[in-house]
Amino acid sequence: MELDAIRKLAARLRTERQLRRLARLPSSRGQTARFAVLGDVEPSRFWIYRKLFNREGVFERQLAAIQDEPVQFIVQLGDMVEKGEPRRYESFLRRHGRVWRGGKPYLTVIGNHDRSRPNGRSHSTIYRALFGRANYAFDHAGTRFVALDSSAKRVTSAQLRWLDRALDAPGRKIVFTHMPPVQLSLWGGFGRLHALGGFIGGAREFARVVSRRRVDRVYMGHVHAFGVQDHEGVRYVLTGGGGSALFPSGNRDRFHHFLTVESSSEGVRERVHALDGAPFAIPQVPVLLSPR
Ligand SMILES: [Fe+2]
Repeated sequence: MELDAIRKLAARLRTERQLRRLARLPSSRGQTARFAVLGDVEPSRFWIYRKLFNREGVFERQLAAIQDEPVQFIVQLGDMVEKGEPRRYESFLRRHGRVWRGGKPYLTVIGNHDRSRPNGRSHSTIYRALFGRANYAFDHAGTRFVALDSSAKRVTSAQLRWLDRALDAPGRKIVFTHMPPVQLSLWGGFGRLHALGGFIGGAREFARVVSRRRVDRVYMGHVHAFGVQDHEGVRYVLTGGGGSALFPSGNRDRFHHFLTVESSSEGVRERVHALDGAPFAIPQVPVLLSPR
């Protein structure tokens, strides 16, 4: 399929369109934002990984379940496709289209796999052609939301300046970004190969900005696991269990799940919906839950 035809397929998911739909909801002027967060869903580029570690249909099952939750919108944290090629986006859009009932706005964050190459030099042209801006902010029900592009495994100083301005708002603030900053190295760092688990360039500056702006939560994917860390006064929640392969680590924090979140004057509260277990709440007290 040509890119133009795939653009037509993606038109219903363009970010600007989702934000217009969200702004029209009566609840957008309310005081409680309710949304779902879904992590990585790409089905693996290598057949051996697919054969050994993939579980068919998890993304579809979770997307179906999310739509039954009383949420106003859904955020997918990136890595929709194994590699940012038109045919892979076409496949994702068809899978998504079979399950999505269209009622709830579905926002995307760009992941490293959504670029032309998941590692090394790459570009995000196709993602942007299909979905629109890779960095964006919006307000909903008294909360400022910011999606930040960390897909190139770095955040530039121009992005940090933009982020700082975007977070200059009263009230609750929530950031979505695909990769964790590398200093949260309990998530997926492998010795010197920390880049596997987090972005390096701008990582400390990013943490300083979200800390100074008193961000309530940072939601991240990339590592196919669940975890919570409080770092410099900000809670970081790793939620990478959208449907991608769970690589064996012997750790029970690797499981398929999605989050539902309520952001109100009472604070931010999450429930973790595990595919194979009962839902549970993330404790409000300081915690350190890490998949490693
Ligand atoms: Fe990733």
